[in-house]
Amino acid sequence: MIIFNRIQELQYQLNIARKAKKTIGFVPTMGALHQGHLALVQRSKAENDITVCSIFVNPTQFNDLSDLEKYPRTLENDSKLLQSVECDYIFAPEVSEMYTNEELELKRQKIEDNGWKQGKTVDFGMLDKVMEGAHRPGHFNGVAQVVSKLFRIVLPDKAYFGQKDFQQLAIVRSMTKQLGFNTEIIGCPIIRESDGLAMSSRNVRLTETERNVSPLISKTLFKVKEMQATHTIAELKAFAEAQIQSEPLMQLEYFEIADAETLQPISDYKQAKSAVACIALKLGNVRLIDNILLY
Ligand code: PAJ
Repeated sequence: MIIFNRIQELQYQLNIARKAKKTIGFVPTMGALHQGHLALVQRSKAENDITVCSIFVNPTQFNDLSDLEKYPRTLENDSKLLQSVECDYIFAPEVSEMYTNEELELKRQKIEDNGWKQGKTVDFGMLDKVMEGAHRPGHFNGVAQVVSKLFRIVLPDKAYFGQKDFQQLAIVRSMTKQLGFNTEIIGCPIIRESDGLAMSSRNVRLTETERNVSPLISKTLFKVKEMQATHTIAELKAFAEAQIQSEPLMQLEYFEIADAETLQPISDYKQAKSAVACIALKLGNVRLIDNILLY
């Protein structure tokens, strides 16, 4: 396993691999790795000759500065974990390697559309207007910005993303298509703790009491999926909202049932071929998201 901090050095190595007709799989992350990330790396290992995992806490996707500052940074441990699953290359650049000062300044000024779309060649339509997009202004713009930069550097044959961030997956698919990247986007299932809590780098910030009540989130989603056959969407929403509100440590941001493709909220099952239930809440100071495919 080799760790690269420089774009040029990584590209030099990847060019050699490409010339030898090796396929490249890519797993972008922000580090603080857990089994959810490692499952993506393992899938990439199984399907490609070379696997690159990037570790970069991307400043342009954080709309809350203290969230960016508090984001766990554990490169040493991450490297060990990646070594244990035989990842080939880690790409761990500094912020200055990825962004110009102008780009960072636009973010500091909270200009949501920070210019990377190059004359509006990328437009997410309604995809980024709902759920995470509505609650975290500029977030998906920053995600698409960094993923497009990373794709240009790595030029992967396949790239792996978790369904844990269901809306992010849709945004990345859309960005890939609109910018014409020759990369297949692979969505991978959510990996959970044994009590159901979706694994997340943010879970380490939960206090013991918060961690103890956290399985209520996935329990609610599992129950909603079960109830789907016999209840209306309005009933499912009322149930989920009541469940979360019954826990004083939790503050619900949204619970939505949406078309799994367009991510637009639906009020009747007939409106979507496939639907997903998505939830976001604060548990203490930690913002958590989860989702489940209903049908
Ligand atoms: P991060 O939160 O580190 O997640 C990296 C990848 O791991 C994402 O595709 C995410 O969906 C996936 N993932 C996280 N938890 C998971 C779980 N419990 N089960 C399965 N997959 C899981 O998502 C980001 O970083 C960033 O936005 C990024 C795409 C790297 C751009 O900066």
